[in-house]
Amino acid sequence: KKTFRIAVLPGDGIGPEIMEEAVKVLSLVAEREGVTFEFKHGRIGGIAIDTDGTPLPEETLRIAKEADAVMLGAVGGPKWDQNPGHLRPEAGLLGIRKALGLFANIRPATMHPSLVEASSLKPEVVSGVDLIVVRELTGGIYFGEKKRYDGPNGEVAEDQCIYHEAEIERIVRVAFDIARKRQKRLVSVDKANVLESSRLWRKVTERVAADYPDVELSHMLVDACAMQLVRAPKQFDVIVTENMFGDILSDQAAMLTGSIGMLASASLAEGSFGLYEPVHGSAPDIAGQGIANPLATILSAAMMLRHSFGMDAAADAVERAVWSVLEAGHRTGDIAADRSRAIGTAEMGRLVREALQSQAISR
Ligand code: NAD
Ligand code: IPM
Ligand code: MN
Repeated sequence: KKTFRIAVLPGDGIGPEIMEEAVKVLSLVAEREGVTFEFKHGRIGGIAIDTDGTPLPEETLRIAKEADAVMLGAVGGPKWDQNPGHLRPEAGLLGIRKALGLFANIRPATMHPSLVEASSLKPEVVSGVDLIVVRELTGGIYFGEKKRYDGPNGEVAEDQCIYHEAEIERIVRVAFDIARKRQKRLVSVDKANVLESSRLWRKVTERVAADYPDVELSHMLVDACAMQLVRAPKQFDVIVTENMFGDILSDQAAMLTGSIGMLASASLAEGSFGLYEPVHGSAPDIAGQGIANPLATILSAAMMLRHSFGMDAAADAVERAVWSVLEAGHRTGDIAADRSRAIGTAEMGRLVREALQSQAISR
């Protein structure tokens, strides 16, 4: 029997609630596909700060490194918001991305027909949206040197933004490879009219493009891209961009699909190893109520099946199960037109498993 080791890091807020449903779906997948998933739980984020005194304990990193893939819920919450930078939950997430070399963050935003009404934008604008944001995840302003000191006129703060040619090249290649398998249109997003790091980004992207003559490359400034994403999102196939721009644009892209509670992501290293997590955060405003949408996490698990385990048919089956539940009209509060009829996290998870169970095994 084939065995895959999965590190499970639920984190904070709604993290444990949504993760529970994803793990249950994965357990059912294992049963149906005749494989074994070995789940090992670890602490990250605020819960780790409280228990271990650090947002990323050594033990968690070891569990992740020994695994074939990592599933992560979300980190953060008001309880830790006043902590110094290195003792914030978010430092745990940034730390694990860096430590595992997860430089390529893949965030697909696909509008499913039955969710058109859930978007805040007009149906004709969002129906048919199918794009992928490829976000550089271990460089840029997130990881540059940070400083805080007293200047002559009060406090001063610095965040350095650095990109090396090799870092740009590897993420751009990932994006070209993805575009090649889709509509072959790649938009590289930068701020080359202002930032030196963006001018290098553009130069490297142009050079790499020579290896992909079949992919149509264009460049867009990030402010214009933010505008185009809500004006005419269907123009996009694959977007590649640096760390912070990708963070912002992917939340924006999420709303094209109806809710941030729907958006899955994969954070990939070289090879098949990856960390899979929803794009959304720990949603402190709804944590503990059992009403969070688990679909982004379940869809992230499907990405793991496909990319890290090569279980394409199982990944397709999970995605089909999700879509069929939505088609049947089941909605958590974030995607419900009528909130009084919304279902909870556990119920949504159960319905997905039921839909999965009713599909023929595709082996
Ligand atoms: P958020 O994504 O947690 O929440 C934004 C809004 O979306 C909230 O109203 C929330 O209720 C809603 N929402 C998010 N996920 C949902 C789901 N699955 N189902 C239903 N509704 C959902 O962003 P925020 O409020 O800006 O941040 C909260 C905390 O999460 C912060 O501490 C932040 O640093 C952290 N965060 C963590 C991650 C991560 O772990 N990957 C990502 C983003 C934010
Ligand atoms: C995300 C989050 C993280 C980021 C935070 C929590 C550090 O917003 O995964 O999009 O900015 O990368
Ligand atoms: Mn974000």
